[in-house]
Amino acid sequence: MSTAQPAKPEDSYVANLEHQLERMRRRMEAIQEIGTALGSTLNLDRLLRLIMSKITDLMAAERSTLYLLDEDRRELWAKVAQGAEDREIRIPVGEGLAGWVAKTGQSINIKDAYQDPRFSNTVDEQTGFRTYSITCQPIRNHRRKIIGVVQVLNKRDGYFTVEDEQLLAALAAQAAVSIENSKLYLKVVGKNIELLDTQEQLKDRISEMDLLFRLEQQMNQTIGLDTFLSSVLDETTSAIPAAGGAILTRHESGWRLLAKSPDYAPVFRSLPLEHQGVTRRIADYDSVFLCNALCEEELADEALSDALGVTLNNAIGLPLQIDGRRLGALILVNRRDNRSSGFTDEDLKLLTVIGGRAEVAIMLANQRQEVTKRTRLAAIGQALSGVLHDLKTPMTIVGGYAQLMVDEEDSQTREEYSKSITNQLGALKGMTGEILSFARGESTLLIRKVFIHQLMKEVQEALTQEFKGRTTLTLELNYRDAIRLDSGKIKRVMFNLARNAHQAMPEGGEFLIRTAESDDGQFVDFWFSDNGPGIPESIRHNLFESFVTSGKESGTGLGLAIVKKIVEQHNGSVDFTTRTEDGTTIHIRLPKAMRT
Ligand SMILES: Nc1ncnc2c1ncn2[C@@H]1O[C@H](COP(=O)(O)OP(=O)(O)OP(=O)(O)O)[C@@H](O)[C@H]1O
Ligand SMILES: [Mg+2]
Repeated sequence: MSTAQPAKPEDSYVANLEHQLERMRRRMEAIQEIGTALGSTLNLDRLLRLIMSKITDLMAAERSTLYLLDEDRRELWAKVAQGAEDREIRIPVGEGLAGWVAKTGQSINIKDAYQDPRFSNTVDEQTGFRTYSITCQPIRNHRRKIIGVVQVLNKRDGYFTVEDEQLLAALAAQAAVSIENSKLYLKVVGKNIELLDTQEQLKDRISEMDLLFRLEQQMNQTIGLDTFLSSVLDETTSAIPAAGGAILTRHESGWRLLAKSPDYAPVFRSLPLEHQGVTRRIADYDSVFLCNALCEEELADEALSDALGVTLNNAIGLPLQIDGRRLGALILVNRRDNRSSGFTDEDLKLLTVIGGRAEVAIMLANQRQEVTKRTRLAAIGQALSGVLHDLKTPMTIVGGYAQLMVDEEDSQTREEYSKSITNQLGALKGMTGEILSFARGESTLLIRKVFIHQLMKEVQEALTQEFKGRTTLTLELNYRDAIRLDSGKIKRVMFNLARNAHQAMPEGGEFLIRTAESDDGQFVDFWFSDNGPGIPESIRHNLFESFVTSGKESGTGLGLAIVKKIVEQHNGSVDFTTRTEDGTTIHIRLPKAMRT
């Protein structure tokens, strides 16, 4: 039988010491852990949760809560876990035990909360928790200002001790550091983000201002409208990266498309009044246009995609108008950017600003053109009266001969008179021919099957005479077969073009006529190229309109208007490319199957 040895007093002393040492070790460990966490994470929520769980654990309590002070609302607030969710509790400063601590800055340690008149059971009721013992400490920042309250509830084996209070004070100080750090951090991050945003916005604004300044400068220089609009498109596509852009403008007898891809020369197209396509629709709109996906049908525009040499995938545009007068449209196609999949609202804003400058430029050019036209019309009127005056002379002569013929019996003399009359009539016809035929409109066509090589032979003979060796004529007939057209009128077109080139090169030069069949076999293309000085910039935008002339004493400005009229009567189209000091090419496309 064994007898139990009575415990020696030293044993229990040792055990107690060991127990205390173990507790100390755990506390040190916890404080160290919190210290490490403080240095490693700046997520305040996670940090506070960690601190609170350590406090609950170390103080052998059931629950602890950390309230932060909301200075503006004079409230303590905390997030407490309830089920799977976090719930926010708010307590006015001064109310309940935590509120009292926040108000007075004193700590408390109470054995039974419900016995204390300062206690409020609102939170217990809200959370379904039952408070017994409670210890509560203010959390102060380094300036001793209260920034929150930490509260520990229900000591598992009795009441909270003075030692517990000291530990809580130490941990509350830790919590204070992490709260302050995190607030500071958030403030710095916030300020930095704000700063970056402002910087970005500022950069955008500066480059927009810069762009507008450049456009304004150009507008004030005496460059032609087309040159200005080309550089508007260049500037726009560099500010908003895009495959190309175009400006559609309304003219007397139709539309004009100026298309421009970065790094390429501008392309001009004359389009009929009934032209259809996205640019035309935008010109008729009252609002801006943005299409990034699922709107391929809306984007259809043969003239535009042909001029830019791209398939249209996305686009933005806006109508150009001033005081309700529709002037045309500005469009950008195929956003070039790796980050986004199309144009943005920001792009549209910038485009609208640029569009404003284009509107003003077009309006000013239109006004200038109106004035010039009025002056030209007046001049033409004077010229006409001059012609009428000149006509009087041959008419009088004709009248005189006719009178003589009546009385003349000798048939040979009569024949001479008759010849003289015929000559004078020929002169009359020549004098009035150009002006009359244009005024009449020459709308009837005499369509016949004509062999291009035959037609060109006749043109060559006439031009060789006219050019008198000063201008060298070259023909390059890649298409020589038959096509249905009014040969008289088409010859007239060619003469007008040839005469212009000849007149533009007083020191001599080259004039090349080239023909070719279009890829789809439906059309025949004609190119008329010279290596003269190029078409003056000031008239490029309305070249084909009547009475537009430049640099010629006797020019009426009807030659190219007649060309356009005849080509359009043949259901064809005409456009041109020109470079200063480099020459001009007029391109005419005629359908092969012209019907009468
Ligand atoms: N090949 C060209 N090279 C340079 N400038 C040209 C060329 N063709 C036309 N132009 C310019 O275009 C203007 C208009 O030409 P258009 O033929 O319509 O009228 P015009 O030649 O002035 O007068 P008209 O032909 O009625 O006698 C010309 O005045 C000229 O300045
Ligand atoms: Mg001419």
